Order: sequence, then structure tokens, then C-alpha cells
Amino acid sequence: MTTTTAGVPTPELNNGVRIPQFGFGVFDIPPEETAQAVRTALETGYRHIDTAQLYGNEAGVGAGIADSGLAREDVFVTTKLANDAHGHDNAITALEGSLRRLGFDYVDLYLIHWPLPARDNYVRTWRGFEDILRAGKARAIGVSNFQPAHLDRLAEESGTRPAVNQIELHPALQQPELREYHQAHGIATQAWSPLARADVLGDPVLTGLAEKHGRTAAQVVLRWHIQLGNIVFPKSASPDRMRQNIDVFGFELDDEDMAEIGRLDEGRRTGPDPDTFNA
Ligand SMILES: NC(=O)c1ccc[n+]([C@@H]2O[C@H](COP(=O)([O-])OP(=O)(O)OC[C@H]3O[C@@H](n4cnc5c(N)ncnc54)[C@H](OP(=O)(O)O)[C@@H]3O)[C@@H](O)[C@H]2O)c1
Repeated sequence: MTTTTAGVPTPELNNGVRIPQFGFGVFDIPPEETAQAVRTALETGYRHIDTAQLYGNEAGVGAGIADSGLAREDVFVTTKLANDAHGHDNAITALEGSLRRLGFDYVDLYLIHWPLPARDNYVRTWRGFEDILRAGKARAIGVSNFQPAHLDRLAEESGTRPAVNQIELHPALQQPELREYHQAHGIATQAWSPLARADVLGDPVLTGLAEKHGRTAAQVVLRWHIQLGNIVFPKSASPDRMRQNIDVFGFELDDEDMAEIGRLDEGRRTGPDPDTFNA
């Protein structure tokens, strides 16, 4: 497997596009602070940024990348369709807005942020995404917060499998069935809130493993994700924690460590349930 300069693996998505397995998420970073945060992340070695139309900070992401001096093709950028823009033509128009704000000709990955099943419009939206892929405005397309029934329906009613499904996933919500579904259908698993928004970091199992390996609990959790094959992009506003988070490629959890973390699954969400969320 090839890696980025920070030693981050770059696995292939189902259409051959490579994605850095470790990135930086910018949810909750205020728009006026985003360019600086992205620049710091890039200086630290991150080469993958995860934003969304709903976060209101795409312009800061674009500015941070432009200021970094890195070539556009050296940074993998994901954005996501806003919930009020479902529909074939709306999805295309919304991406044009993202590209304008980012200052780009294309994004690396464009996701349907939520399936919003009660609105019953995600299949038409996906057809817009297929047109976006054909037009070269996104190098890969995928979904977020989709459940198996939503993925089955896309498979039945369209010709393209999502490259990724970005789902809430951390030690308190391990999603084994969905991860198995993804594996069986060539869909990469992206884990959002990989640290459960720091909520799991005081768990004695995790602090015990941190002590065993001379690492922090956050590094243990992020290393667990990497060994499961998940793609992660923890958010941090602190340069020190940004550095700490990506520094997980110099140690390994053994089978018993992995099993211990496996037993922390409580099926506990920190965010909305995708089957009922319709904002
Ligand atoms: N698709 C979706 O629906 C969806 C939903 C939510 C999130 N996401 C994506 O996933 C990304 C990450 O998720 P998230 O931001 O919700 O949660 P997260 O990455 O699990 O956790 C972020 C929180 O943990 C703290 N933190 C980070 N590193 C730490 C460390 N080493 N030690 C202690 N605390 C640490 C941060 O505080 P500081 O900033 O103070 O360090 C922040 O409060 C988002 O930024 C976004 O890109 C997607």
C-alpha cells in the first residue's frame, strides 16, 4: 500500500481513486478560524480534509489549502450535500456552490450527507451524483449515514455503488453489521466522531491500554480504527492534539487489545439516528 509523507496509508476506493486513511475534520470550526486550522493541519502532515456545505466553512478550507503552497492534487478534499438540496438538479447546483467557495474545479469526494428517508428523494439525488462523477466534478461519490436498506435501494435503482459510507463509529458504537455490509459490497467505511467527541477517552480500558503502550487514550482509539481499516478524520482545534492524533503509525495494538476495545460497544450514538433524522 502506498503512503503519504506522514506515513498515512492511501487505500484504493472502489473506482481506483486513492484516499489518505487519516484526515482532518472541520465540523464545528468557526468559518473565520478554518483557514488557519487547515493550514496547521497541512503543516502537520495531514493531506485529507473533511468538510460539508452544512458546516459553513468551505471557503476557509479552500483558503487554507491555497495558502499552504501545496498543489491541489496533493490534498484530498471531501464535501457533503446540504439536506435542503436533495434532488437531481439541486445536487448538481449545490456542488457548483461548493466549488466556488472552495476555489476548486473538482472535489475528491462528494457525499449525500443524510438519507432523509421520509423525504424519499435520495435515489434521484444519487442520479445527480452519477452525472457529477461522469462530468469529472468529483473524483469519487459516496453517501453518509446510510443504513443497509438505503444502500440496497441505491444498488437496485442505480448503476453505481457508493465509494464510501461515512457513519458514526467509535468504541461505544462499533457498527459491526454495517461494516460487514460495506466489506461485502466494496464500500469503504469512514468513521465520523471517531473519538465519540472525546466522550470515551476516560474509559478505564482505554486509559489502561494508553498506559501499556505509552500513548494517549485518543491515540489508542485512532489506532484501533486504523487497524479495523476505517478511514478517520478527527477534529481538533489544538495544534498539539492535531499532531498527537496523526501520530499513530509507530505502534500496534495486539489481538487482545483489539478484543478488549471490541467489548466496549454499547450501540450508543452521540448523534441523530439516520432512520428518523429528517432535518
Ligand atoms: N457525516 C456526518 O454526519 C458527520 C457528523 C459529525 C462529524 N462528521 C465529521 O467527522 C469529523 C470528526 O468528528 P467530530 O468532530 O464530531 O468528533 P471527534 O473527532 O470524535 O472529536 C472531536 C472532539 O474531541 C476533542 N479531541 C480531539 N483530539 C483529542 C485528543 N487527542 N485528546 C482529547 N480530546 C481530543 C476535540 O477537542 P479540541 O478541538 O479542543 O481538541 C473535540 O471536542 C467532523 O469534524 C466532521 O468532519 C461527520
